[in-house]
This record gives sequence, C-alpha cells and structure tokens, in this order.
Amino acid sequence: MADLSVEYLGLELRNPVVIASSPLTGDIGHLKACQEKGAGAVVLKSIFQEQIDRQIDKEILENEQYLNHGDAASYYEAVSRDYYLDKYLSLVREAKKELDIPVIASINCMNLSGWTEYLKKFEAAGADAIELNYYPIAADSRTEGAVVDRKAIEFVSAVRKASDAKISVKIGYKYSSLASIIKSMDSAGADGLVLFNRFYRPDIDIESMTLSREANPLSSAHEYADTLRWIALMSAEVKCDLAASTGIHDGQTVIKMLLAGAACTQVCTAAMKDLGVIESMCETLSSWMDRHGFKCIGDFKGRLAQENMANGSLWERTQYIRKLSGER
Ligand SMILES: Cc1cc2nc3c(=O)[nH]c(=O)nc-3n(C[C@H](O)[C@H](O)[C@H](O)COP(=O)(O)O)c2cc1C
Repeated sequence: MADLSVEYLGLELRNPVVIASSPLTGDIGHLKACQEKGAGAVVLKSIFQEQIDRQIDKEILENEQYLNHGDAASYYEAVSRDYYLDKYLSLVREAKKELDIPVIASINCMNLSGWTEYLKKFEAAGADAIELNYYPIAADSRTEGAVVDRKAIEFVSAVRKASDAKISVKIGYKYSSLASIIKSMDSAGADGLVLFNRFYRPDIDIESMTLSREANPLSSAHEYADTLRWIALMSAEVKCDLAASTGIHDGQTVIKMLLAGAACTQVCTAAMKDLGVIESMCETLSSWMDRHGFKCIGDFKGRLAQENMANGSLWERTQYIRKLSGER
C-alpha cells in the first residue's frame, strides 16, 4: 500500500488530510473523533484576538468608576487577557494529552500588539505549531494598497522575531500582488502559508432590511480553483510549506493540490458534513497512487507546479481565449 505520510511545518503527518480550524476542532470530543476518523493533523479552533480585546475594552468601560487609575485599567487588561488565554491554553494541553497526531494552535489576528509574549505560552502548552489567521479588511479608502501589504509583511517579521515556534500564516487572496505577498511572507520567515482562508460573507435579509444572520459559512466543491492556481504558481518559488485550503471536498481535489505542490490540504466544510470524508479521501489518494505506480507522495508532489510544466504560464491565464479553429 502506498505511503501517504507527508511533512508539514517540520511535523510528520500520517496523511495530507488536516482538519482545518473550525467547530470540529474546538473541543476534545470532536478532536478525538477527527483523529479516530484518520486525520493527519488538526488545527484548533482559533482564539480571536480582536474579540477578546474588544470584550476587555467593554469590561473596562463598564467598570470605569473602579478602574479610574491608569495602572488599574492596565492591570485589569492583563489579568483578563490571561483569563481568556488560559481557557484556550487548557484546550491545547488537553488536545496534546489525548491525541497522537500533531496539534496546531490558531490565533485569529490583525496585529499581535501585546500578544507576542503569548506565542511562548502556546509553545509551552505543547502546541506543535501555531497558525496565524491574518485578515486585514482594507476598507479604509485613505490607506493605500502598499501600506496594507507592508503591514502584512511586518506582521510576519514581528512574529518571527518573537518566537522560534513553527509558524504558519493563513491568508486570504485579495492582495494587489498575491505573488509578491506570498514570496515576502516566505522571506520574512513564515514556515508555512495556508492558501486560502474563506472569509465570512455577509448578506442582507431584504424583509427585515438588516444584516442577515443566515449567511452560509460553508464552501462548495467548485471553489478550489483559486487555491489550486496559486499553489501551482508559488510552490516552487517559496521555501516554506504551502497548505491548500478552501473547496477541498474529495480525494480527487486532494490529489490535484498535491500535484500542484501543496504540502498538505486543510478540510473544513466536507468534514463538517461527514467526518467519514477523511477516510474516503485517503482511500482515493491511495488507490490513485497504486494505479500510477507512486510509492510515496514525494514521487508526484509538485509535478504540475508552474516550474515543472513545459507551458507553466497556463496557470496565469485568466481569460477564455478562443481557439484559432474558428470557435466563436
Ligand atoms: C463554521 C466555521 C468556523 C470557522 N472557524 C475558523 C476559525 O476559528 N479560524 C480559522 O482560521 N478558520 C475558521 N474557519 C475557516 C475554515 O478553517 C476554512 O479555512 C474554510 O472554511 C475553507 O475551507 P472549506 O472549503 O474546507 O470549508 C471556519 C469555517 C467555518 C465554516
């Protein structure tokens, strides 16, 4: 039988199917189920920096009369952060105690001001690596694209300076020059990049004329094309590992991502619908490898990356070019 093991962020994974940060990875019961169903690794549900900071600001405001001394407010802020972090750190510890597969902690953040020291706490709690879900929403029309890009790169450099942990950065694809951002984050010291996060998509309820609470957070199976394109374009250009995320619903798509050069795949929607998909993805991968005579993933990983193709520029094509045969 084919060897499905892969290396990601210096960790040995028994197969390339990683369960992405999601409700499936937010408590020990679900985490154990992911392992039992065959996951190669898990990325824990994120701790949300912005939400915690906002909550603490709110609490400080509500308790203003007791915290009117400047030092008292800073003290309260530090203690409250520790409280929320401790809750998360106990999940990391429990996951490490109960699981044999690698456990990657996850922080949802736009900057790490005041947080970099906590990276060490994640490491101390046993996290095998830390994934940073970085999501600037460039909605301020006075901020130029170059500034948004520079901040993103500075963010990775600051994290690299602050921690020796294995760090991956999960990004979206809306940058003016994605290739440059990916390359710069690699140079700034990221050990891995997750391409791409799929962000919450707001909607409007036209009857109540309010923001809809029903926005569907789940992806569909045809959404993998952008991920595939950028893994193929960049995998040979960067030193760091690329993890493929969004729209990976079956074993065929896992194979495509590996052929494009992904180190592993991250699966959320398909696993939320049926955890059995992990096993069927591995079976599809294994029997495809047998059929093509591949003994290990390294035998074919990156075979269709831009650098390895005679006409790699095909990955750059965005328009439907009519064939010269007279097709109209
Ligand atoms: C309900 C739900 C919760 C999620 N929570 C997180 C999270 O806490 N942190 C994170 O980085 N991504 C989170 N994600 C994004 C997923 O990890 C994943 O990147 C995205 O859903 C695309 O993968 P998919 O097409 O397999 O669903 C969440 C997704 C869903 C559907």
